[in-house]
Amino acid sequence: MTNNGNAGAPVFEIERMNFSYNTQLALKDVNLTVREGERIAILGANGSGKSTLLKILDALYFPASGKISAFGEPLTEQALQDEARAFAFRRRVGLVFQDPEVQLFSPTVWDEVTFAPLHLGLPRAEVIERSEWAMDLLDIAKLRDRAPHRLSGGEKKKVALASVLSLRPEVWLLDEPTASLDPRSQSRLLDFIDELGREGKTIITATHDLDIVEEIADRVVMFCDEHEITGEGAPHEVLSDYDRLIECNLIHEHRHKHDGTEHIHHHLHPAAHEHEH
Ligand SMILES: Nc1ncnc2c1ncn2[C@@H]1O[C@H](COP(=O)(O)OP(=O)(O)O)[C@@H](O)[C@H]1O
Ligand SMILES: [Mg+2]
Repeated sequence: MTNNGNAGAPVFEIERMNFSYNTQLALKDVNLTVREGERIAILGANGSGKSTLLKILDALYFPASGKISAFGEPLTEQALQDEARAFAFRRRVGLVFQDPEVQLFSPTVWDEVTFAPLHLGLPRAEVIERSEWAMDLLDIAKLRDRAPHRLSGGEKKKVALASVLSLRPEVWLLDEPTASLDPRSQSRLLDFIDELGREGKTIITATHDLDIVEEIADRVVMFCDEHEITGEGAPHEVLSDYDRLIECNLIHEHRHKHDGTEHIHHHLHPAAHEHEH
């Protein structure tokens, strides 16, 4: 997609961007251009800066230095004080948080799933239809009257996903979207992401589930040194460079004994060791 000579207009352009939480550095000298219709996976170990980058792309934080533009215009706090501009941006870009606790605020699941599209002015009938569809896709129709805060971790994640699915933005920012989903929901979500890609949507997914990278991305950007993007490539290139993946703390070597002999396996997904159940 990046080298077909037909790449879309830039959606995001980031130059020499730095970001810190008070004194804690989170992103260092980040340069990244994302074009319309690209599907990008952001890989990196815990704490490398993936979630911070997605929040900056969603204009929830603004960089301390460097430049960022969205759809060809500077993405600054000041620019988004213009209500019409903020509204248009929120309509076009949707973020599914890694931690659904932060995202959920409505009294019921139904209110949560319908909030963004209603608030952003989509026709009511369409909102209802899309919300029903999103809840069916993720098997949460039965939860519609429940309070999001009383749901299990995996259920909360599904509600958070459905609340962006119902908005159907042009640009999707997905922060570890498959983490804590059950197998059927994972598989439906991956099919859906595939469909979005075919519709030409822009999809940026932070993950350390290397098993899904080839399905969801055409380009991989990698945090290898802490807080700094130091690698990039096509999924098959990145995934076949085991030494680099070990160096970047994306896979680990693991010793097992089978029939009395010791083997070393490469584990492709550290996240698999962090199941919720
Ligand atoms: N709210 C916060 N306050 C202070 N430091 C934070 C906060 N959120 C994240 N950090 C720090 O910023 C760095 C990047 O974090 P994050 O973007 O969440 O990484 P990732 O998503 O790759 O795990 C880490 O060192 C993390 O500890
Ligand atoms: Mg994160």
